[in-house]
Amino acid sequence: MTTNIIGEIQKDHLREGLTKYTRKAFQMLPELDKPSILDIGCGTGVPTMELARLSNGQVIGLDISQPLLDELTRKIEDAGLSDRVKTVKCSLFEIDFPDESFNIIWAEGSISVIGFEQGLKVWRRLLKPKGFLVVHDGIDNMTKKLKQIPSCGYELLGYFTLTEDTWWCEYYGPLEKRIPELSIKYSDNPEALDVLDKEQQEVDMFKRNPKMFGSVFFL
Ligand SMILES: C[S@@+](CC[C@H](N)C(=O)[O-])C[C@H]1O[C@@H](n2cnc3c(N)ncnc32)[C@H](O)[C@@H]1O
Repeated sequence: MTTNIIGEIQKDHLREGLTKYTRKAFQMLPELDKPSILDIGCGTGVPTMELARLSNGQVIGLDISQPLLDELTRKIEDAGLSDRVKTVKCSLFEIDFPDESFNIIWAEGSISVIGFEQGLKVWRRLLKPKGFLVVHDGIDNMTKKLKQIPSCGYELLGYFTLTEDTWWCEYYGPLEKRIPELSIKYSDNPEALDVLDKEQQEVDMFKRNPKMFGSVFFL
């Protein structure tokens, strides 16, 4: 049921609206032929699928949540991309691929789980020489993060910001609009109402402190 309600809120559909920024970041990288890409904390794989479409490479989506990976597997099969896109259920604290496995590591909305500096440090060994790490993270502690990038052994290729206005117009605003009609539809379903309540709480958090919700792509 939870999967149905999430599908119906169309969070993926809302998230798809932000893939133009995934594209923008990918296009800032030099062209690579058949890159190997690891998408850490891939969730239902909105960026993973976009990376597969943008590259001609092999993409692995890694996440700790099996239900989210199941949804990604469905998308991979529907798109006929099973030969190029795989999923791995694993904690991002315990990634055990060999050193220098990937040309690109991608992490949207997941590095905060381990911490920006720690993520930079522990994922570095997974990159091939001249590999790229792309991180989409909160706008907080920008100055500190910009210093941590070179001190962890990376060269900053560039970065760009998604402002709180972008997040409101392209994500939280449309999400809030859907909640009342779905609350009526699912009024006799406590599990669905609980999901909707959590979504509303996130929207309310955004409204209380929108500046906290700006985000940055670091390459
Ligand atoms: C904000 S979501 C981002 C999902 C996806 N990258 C996107 O941009 O749409 C964060 C993801 O990190 C995953 N995650 C949280 N803790 C994790 C852990 N310890 N190991 C692996 N994935 C984790 C969650 O399951 C979730 O899918």
